[in-house]
Amino acid sequence: MPTPLMVRSELLNQDLTGKTYVVTGANSGIGLVTTQQLARQGATVVMGVRRVKEGQRVAAEIRRETASAQLFVYPLELADLASVRAFAAEVNRNHPKLQGLVNNAGVMKTPFGHTKDGFETQFGVNHLGHFLLTNLLTEALKAGAPSRVINLSSYFHEFAMGRKGEIHFDDLNYHSRPFDSWEAYAQSKLANLLHARELGRRLAGTGVTTASVNPGFVHTNLLTVPLPMWLQRLVVIPVMRLAGMIEPWEGAQTTLHALLAPEVAQHSGAYYSQMARYKDKASRAGGWPLRSPNPVAHDDAVAARLWNASQALVQG
Ligand SMILES: NC(=O)c1ccc[n+]([C@@H]2O[C@H](COP(=O)([O-])OP(=O)(O)OC[C@H]3O[C@@H](n4cnc5c(N)ncnc54)[C@H](OP(=O)(O)O)[C@@H]3O)[C@@H](O)[C@H]2O)c1
Repeated sequence: MPTPLMVRSELLNQDLTGKTYVVTGANSGIGLVTTQQLARQGATVVMGVRRVKEGQRVAAEIRRETASAQLFVYPLELADLASVRAFAAEVNRNHPKLQGLVNNAGVMKTPFGHTKDGFETQFGVNHLGHFLLTNLLTEALKAGAPSRVINLSSYFHEFAMGRKGEIHFDDLNYHSRPFDSWEAYAQSKLANLLHARELGRRLAGTGVTTASVNPGFVHTNLLTVPLPMWLQRLVVIPVMRLAGMIEPWEGAQTTLHALLAPEVAQHSGAYYSQMARYKDKASRAGGWPLRSPNPVAHDDAVAARLWNASQALVQG
């Protein structure tokens, strides 16, 4: 197994005082480590969380390490577009200039269900909630340019447990086709990648650049296994490590690179990948950027069609 790609140290030591970033799902896993690092570097971070008490607990913990941390915890439920609109209004009111939006929150392999607005849970939370949020924060990102939008995708945008990553325009929300939770996750993560690609094209020349990210196979709550903790520690975690699982600090590296490395602005819309188990062996070491092995990920017509379909759904 290759070793994880790591951010250049000068990027992690640069002073970010005066810069403001929004991170969704900032209370846990990759979002938490991203928030912690940006705060250490002096940035202001707006934490979008669905469990506000937990967000405040985590913010207090970060402040214990970095007393000067500028953290704002606002409620954000991505499974409810009214909550997305309320969160965006709060951000626009208090932080009219943004240097970054990290669309990080996500769910994986959820049972069949729908968001408040009737979208399949994974497509609704992972893609459509973030799609609307990005639209609503675009003016603030333009006002704060140079700025970045980073979407957390996954190597599962290619294949998720044998299910091919595709956008099913005929039935995006599983109204009539049989539901498969891995297939729905793959669709949502391909949507995250295509959203960043199309957004990058649309925002060319504004100073707002975009990227999508595969963080790798990361030890976070997303991978919760329904087994007793002792068994997980003794067997599951060591086996997963042998299979390439990395820790959240390593999992946040690709996000931090996409957000902070100056050269990323030259490749707006590109995909950045940590090492991962792609079907295509040549891609397994990862790449910043990496040409996705999924041909749909390069299809501008699909990206544009997804944009139009998403716009119609979040307005409807
Ligand atoms: N871990 C991996 O191996 C891996 C691999 C590829 C891609 N990713 C992607 O990385 C991103 C971060 O995941 P993670 O691994 O750090 O998992 P995590 O620790 O479970 O973090 C996910 C975050 O998203 C939040 N969230 C979930 N549903 C939400 C909703 N409806 N509204 C608002 N926030 C919501 C969670 O809030 P709660 O704490 O309240 O649940 C949590 O803060 C995800 O987009 C995931 O798809 C992860």
